[in-house]
Parts: sequence; C-alpha cells; structure tokens
Amino acid sequence: MLTIALPKGRIAEDTLEFFKRLFGGDFAFENRKLILDRAGFRFLLVRSQDVPTYVTRGAAELGVCGKDVLLEQDSPVTELLDLKIGRCKVVLGVPQGKFLDPKKPSVKVATKMTNITKKYFADRAIAADIVKLYGSIELAPLVGLADAIVDITETGNTMRENGLEVSEVILETTARLFANRDKFIEKKREILELRDRLAELVK
Ligand code: PRP
Repeated sequence: MLTIALPKGRIAEDTLEFFKRLFGGDFAFENRKLILDRAGFRFLLVRSQDVPTYVTRGAAELGVCGKDVLLEQDSPVTELLDLKIGRCKVVLGVPQGKFLDPKKPSVKVATKMTNITKKYFADRAIAADIVKLYGSIELAPLVGLADAIVDITETGNTMRENGLEVSEVILETTARLFANRDKFIEKKREILELRDRLAELVK
C-alpha cells in the first residue's frame, strides 16, 4: 500500500480525479474524514504547507503540493511529476500606480513565504524588512504594515479587489508529485509504476 498526502482544497480533488480515472470508483473524502483508503492506496488530507512534513518524516511515501511550497521549505524530497494542476504565480504586489521607492533604505514586505521573499530581494541586493503573516497578506500595504507583498495569486482577484497590482512575477507554480527519498529507493518499482500511469493522464 502507498500512502499519499494531499493538500486540502482543489488540488486534492483534482489529484483524486486522476485516481478515479485510473481505477474507477469514487475517490473522495467523506464528510470530515482525513483518511481515505481506496484501491490499495491511503490518502491523507492535510494543510498544503504540512504535506512535505508528512513525506519527509515518512508518514506518507508520496505527497502532492505546489512547487512554491517545496521551494519555500527547501524540502529534501524526490520530485517525480508535474501534475500541471493548481497553476498559480508567486508575485511581488504593490499598491496600484506605486513603485517601490529605490531611495528608501529598506523595503517592507509582507508575506507568508519568507524564504522565497528573502532570496528574491537578496538576489537583487535590495534590503528587505520581511513581515511574516499567515494570511490576508493583501491587507498589509493598505494599512501601512508593508510597502509591498509577496503572495500567491491564481485569478488575481484578491489583489485587484484590494487595489494592488503585480509588479513582478517571481515564479510560476503547479502541483508536483514527490516521494520520501528513502521510501523511493525501498518501493521504487511500485512508485514509478504509479508515476508512469499518472503521467499518461497529465494534460
Ligand atoms: C491565496 C493568496 C491570496 C489568494 C489569491 O490564499 O494568499 O489571498 O489565494 O487568489 P486569487 O488570485 O485567485 O484571488 P489562499 O486562498 O491559498 O489561502 P491561505 O491564505 O489560507 O493560504
């Protein structure tokens, strides 16, 4: 049996849809249940940011989450497949019509992705004061908590509705299937067989 950690939300549903197409039957979590056993697989429903933890600590052999989460956490996993679902962008956002003032000694940036943000500004030799938040990032520039944000966008609606615009796209991300490094070696045949079957369904 292979255990696969999935992130709550649309990526979990889209990933289970792949399994439904492969094996038939109903691949969906019941009500508030967090474990789903189906066709010789066990699926775990976890927070997106927790998927790499389940996998690196061996509670799941496989996981699915956004490439942004893997980059942010610098997770030591074996990446197997780009599922091409959950497509979004990590962007630098600023209040509409405003640019970051190059004369300011340091730019204040609100984000939940502190490592990606640190690297982005370090690569450009810009001093950044990073304000770590856990959500509603778009609010920060509106109330003077930050000059800019680094956040994930899908439709761009949240930024638009809050008077922000994309200043730069930092990275484009999609959901990846990945494995625990040791389990990958232990169960290589089984894991690669699943990877290959899923790869045939990727559009
Ligand atoms: C993300 C992000 C934005 C929103 C952008 O939050 O932080 O707030 O989605 O989406 P849009 O471009 O389609 O408007 P998410 O819903 O992932 O919730 P979280 O803050 O709990 O991570």
